[in-house]
Amino acid sequence: MIRLAMPKGRNLEVALAAFRAAGLGLDGLEAAGRSLRTSLPESGVEVLSLKDWDLPLYVEHGIADCGIVGSDVLEELDGDLLVPVRLREGRSRLSLIGRSPEPPPAGGQVRLATKYPHTARRLVATRPWGAEIFKLSGSVELAPVLHLADVALDIVQTGRTLVENRLVEVEVVAEVAACLVVNRASFQRHRARINEWIGRLEAAGVVT
Ligand code: PRP
Repeated sequence: MIRLAMPKGRNLEVALAAFRAAGLGLDGLEAAGRSLRTSLPESGVEVLSLKDWDLPLYVEHGIADCGIVGSDVLEELDGDLLVPVRLREGRSRLSLIGRSPEPPPAGGQVRLATKYPHTARRLVATRPWGAEIFKLSGSVELAPVLHLADVALDIVQTGRTLVENRLVEVEVVAEVAACLVVNRASFQRHRARINEWIGRLEAAGVVT
């Protein structure tokens, strides 16, 4: 039995579609409702339902053998996980956003709101301006709209949130993808199985 951690958020549908396309048979999962732990004996898989931010911890500690989580979360948490493939669908970008498209002036100091303080600190270290970083949990776009912050570092996918809040992208910082993550020891223990999954995902053309 292999234990797979699935995300509860926007990457869940993307992950299920990829597994479906690869014929990896997690169909029983869609009927599991709000169960946090679902056994799929015919597939030899037990699925855990986890919040994105908690998922890497479960995989790193080997509680789950593998999982699907966004590269934005991986970059921020900086854990020790194998990332063999990234899903093609559901891509988004991590962008610096603001009320106007101009970057902060060189030598200036801005207030930056984000769910990703470590990533933001690394970004600011490479810029000619400084920032006071405000860590928020969500609705990050509201911070520049209401002048709590001058800029925000956040996910842009369709761009709809920006348009509806009259914000713009100042700079695209990184491409974000849902990633297959694997615990190092599990990769040895379940090598044949995990390699088969990766092979099938690749053959279905749903990963890079
Ligand atoms: C994310 C992100 C943006 C939005 C971007 O928020 O933080 O707010 O999606 O998507 P769009 O470009 O398609 O509009 P999420 O839905 O994860 O909720 P949150 O505000 O709680 O972070």
